[in-house]
Amino acid sequence: MTEIAFLGLGAMGLPMARRLLDAGHRLTVWNRTAARAEPLAAAGARLARNPAQAVEGAEVVVTMLADPAAVEAVLRDAAPGLRPGTTVVDMSTIGPDAVRDLAGRLPAGVAFVDAPVMGSTPRAEAGELTIFAGGEVAPAVEPVLAALGTVVHCGPLGSGAALKLVNITAVITSVTAVAEALALAGALGVEREAAERSLAAGPLGAIVGRALDTYSAFGLGLAAKDLALALDAAKGLRVVAAAGEQLHAAAGERGAGADLSAVVTHLRGVTA
Ligand SMILES: NC(=O)c1ccc[n+]([C@@H]2O[C@H](COP(=O)([O-])OP(=O)(O)OC[C@H]3O[C@@H](n4cnc5c(N)ncnc54)[C@H](OP(=O)(O)O)[C@@H]3O)[C@@H](O)[C@H]2O)c1
Repeated sequence: MTEIAFLGLGAMGLPMARRLLDAGHRLTVWNRTAARAEPLAAAGARLARNPAQAVEGAEVVVTMLADPAAVEAVLRDAAPGLRPGTTVVDMSTIGPDAVRDLAGRLPAGVAFVDAPVMGSTPRAEAGELTIFAGGEVAPAVEPVLAALGTVVHCGPLGSGAALKLVNITAVITSVTAVAEALALAGALGVEREAAERSLAAGPLGAIVGRALDTYSAFGLGLAAKDLALALDAAKGLRVVAAAGEQLHAAAGERGAGADLSAVVTHLRGVTA
């Protein structure tokens, strides 16, 4: 049983924190919008008033927040409560540059692991995430990650964040391409079911499944953030840049919180 502080109870953080509680760990939680923490308090987690209070006495601190700025702000507020020997495990998607920058700002003796995840809310609820871990995963961290999914040890600090960015960029860009192919089908008068069925039977089958997924909750705004991180990391990614523009337009129409699959209905409307 590990003493865990969990910071960030959004679409992913809430089911992940619940799994840690269900696995028998001692859990203290904090979320900027406090009401989101209430279901966990009812299930036995302690509620902290601020990040510094949440991390006091924690062996492992998990952050699951929107973007680099959010992780930076929360860890800055948590710093007065962090003690030597604690490991901070950031599971958000923030890219390797932010990981190395944040690790360098932690108080002396506090370790940092980047452990971003592949898999959306259904896999978070089931404890079936794929976790790309970078840095030294201390023994106290192993059972925490094991309750959330399968760990892939990637190498030094930042290597998990880098591999995550590679994977999510491929998925988001491919989902956007499939959305365009389905929009093309509409423009050509190809029956929607026939187009979806034939694409699903081909090499893009899993991507078609994600594009038409009605269970996941991965906001268009977060997807656009991931592509922006990829574009910051490498020059010349023209397909990624174009996909990012489509996601911004879809978010403008459907809302930044709408699932990535909303790009399909958005593009169908644009090309009709
Ligand atoms: N959703 C997915 O399918 C999925 C899958 C894999 C990875 N991810 C990644 O995992 C991370 C979390 O995703 P999510 O879907 O859980 O996002 P989400 O539902 O939008 O939740 C974001 C969390 O970050 C907090 N937050 C945002 N800005 C903040 C700030 N400035 N200060 C403090 N807290 C702040 C939010 O607090 P409030 O409640 O107060 O807004 C909330 O707890 C993201 O990096 C995302 O890219 C998501």
